[in-house]
Amino acid sequence: MDCVKLVFFMLYTILSQLVFSLSLPHLCPKDQALALLQFKNMFPINPNASDYCFKFKGFHSYPKTLTWNRSTDCCSWDGVHCDKMTGQVIELNLTCSGLQGKFHSNSSLFQLCNLRRLDLSYNNFFGSLISSKFGEFSSLTHLDLSVSSFSGQIPSEISYLTNLNILRITTVDPYGLRAGPHNFELLLKNLTQLRELKLDSVNISSTIPLNFSSYLTVLQLPYTQLRGVLPERVFHLSNLEFLHLSSNPQLTVRFPTTTWNSSASLMKLYLYDVNFTGRIPESFSHLTSLHELDMGYSNLAGPIPKPLGNLSHVESLFLNGNYLEGPISQFSIFEKLKMLSLGNNNLRWPT
Ligand SMILES: *[C@@H]1O[C@H](CO)[C@@H](O)[C@H](O)[C@H]1NC(C)=O
Ligand SMILES: *[C@@H]1O[C@H](CO)[C@@H](O)[C@H](O)[C@H]1NC(C)=O
Ligand SMILES: *[C@@H]1O[C@H](CO)[C@@H](O)[C@H](O)[C@H]1NC(C)=O
Ligand SMILES: *[C@@H]1O[C@H](CO)[C@@H](O)[C@H](O)[C@H]1NC(C)=O
Ligand SMILES: *[C@@H]1O[C@H](CO)[C@@H](O)[C@H](O)[C@H]1NC(C)=O
Ligand SMILES: *[C@@H]1O[C@H](CO)[C@@H](O)[C@H](O)[C@H]1NC(C)=O
Ligand SMILES: *[C@@H]1O[C@H](CO)[C@@H](O)[C@H](O)[C@H]1NC(C)=O
Ligand SMILES: *[C@@H]1O[C@H](CO)[C@@H](O)[C@H](O)[C@H]1NC(C)=O
Ligand SMILES: *[C@@H]1O[C@H](CO)[C@@H](O)[C@H](O)[C@H]1NC(C)=O
Ligand SMILES: *[C@@H]1O[C@H](CO)[C@@H](O)[C@H](O)[C@H]1NC(C)=O
Repeated sequence: MDCVKLVFFMLYTILSQLVFSLSLPHLCPKDQALALLQFKNMFPINPNASDYCFKFKGFHSYPKTLTWNRSTDCCSWDGVHCDKMTGQVIELNLTCSGLQGKFHSNSSLFQLCNLRRLDLSYNNFFGSLISSKFGEFSSLTHLDLSVSSFSGQIPSEISYLTNLNILRITTVDPYGLRAGPHNFELLLKNLTQLRELKLDSVNISSTIPLNFSSYLTVLQLPYTQLRGVLPERVFHLSNLEFLHLSSNPQLTVRFPTTTWNSSASLMKLYLYDVNFTGRIPESFSHLTSLHELDMGYSNLAGPIPKPLGNLSHVESLFLNGNYLEGPISQFSIFEKLKMLSLGNNNLRWPT
């Protein structure tokens, strides 16, 4: 074959392969199917492993990995999603799947390096540490390892995942997980795209740094041993919808006195059992979207603060366990109020 013919032949081969590959649906790469099957075999199903699924999420767990087998394309397996163009596995959602077993850092899961969404929540990996290898999933936008009995320290490598929008690592075992010194600060600093952060009951034991994602819509850190003063900037996040910092008695919270940038978006504010200082400012009355407010056991004193009387959309209001005194009259204006808790104060109904 002379050169021209060879080039033509090569061109023909490449083109025909291209046409061939475009006309076929992409199949899951063999090595990724194998990695998934190996993962499946590491975790026998025990329905009890997802007990909290029904308790917390209200739906029954079911064993997604049970039907995975070699005879079908892994892109069609329950909980597995592939990229339509490349065929790579980009999403694995095994929430509430009854998986039980030790999660080692040699797990075949870490071969799925194109994952963008990974949800392993509500399983039972009792006695497993969160491997630092999770930090190698550099394309991840969603990571959920909640309520799966992981213990020990959340690896600092999680802060390499700079594309994360959603990070949920909640635990029901109080302080069974910890952030480790400075890690929380680095995490917030580095994950500049975060929209949702949930770390319930993780022992964070540090202050909330000044530098964090301006896209946060959900910041949920109850029962995390937070200390210091809550940065006012939290209240100025213009997309913030849900702020839950309850049960952090050493966290000092002071509301901004002027306008809040989050005032139009904020729907739920849970600040139960925090170290509240200062008054409820007039600016509070601009929280026009607020549906749920919990400021129980938060050291509120004096009469019921006037600005609370303007929150006409509030459906539940908890002010119990404070030092509030005087008459209860303003509440007649809450048209939507369904739940009101004022116990353990010195309030009285007007006579
Ligand atoms: C699940 O829990 C129930 C009640 O606690 C127990 O009787 C049963 O043996 C458990 N099943 C497995 C497979 O561990
Ligand atoms: C293999 O997987 C397919 C699709 O999930 C399922 O319909 C079939 O029952 C499975 N076969 C076995 C032997 O489990
Ligand atoms: C993975 O690591 C665990 C614990 O170190 C070990 O028991 C297991 O055999 C390893 N599995 C493989 C496939 O290497
Ligand atoms: C996984 O699926 C559940 C519903 O089955 C859904 O609520 C959850 O958001 C999914 N996780 C991710 C990371 O998309
Ligand atoms: C922050 O992310 C960058 C980019 O991924 C990484 O190089 C750096 O090491 C990360 N820093 C920390 C403290 O994790
Ligand atoms: C939380 O972590 C801090 C610092 O790492 C430690 O001193 C403290 O004892 C931990 N608290 C609990 C309840 O585990
Ligand atoms: C947060 O950190 C980034 C990157 O280090 C920096 O560009 C930005 O100015 C910091 N923002 C604040 C409010 O400190
Ligand atoms: C409030 O939002 C405006 C417009 O996005 C911005 O210019 C301003 O700096 C924000 N204020 C605070 C305190 O973050
Ligand atoms: C609560 O905040 C005040 C400052 O307003 C501070 O003096 C006090 O030590 C804090 N209490 C706790 C338990 O952190
Ligand atoms: C709050 O309500 C009072 C009277 O109930 C009213 O005078 C005041 O303008 C309201 N403030 C806002 C910001 O809506």
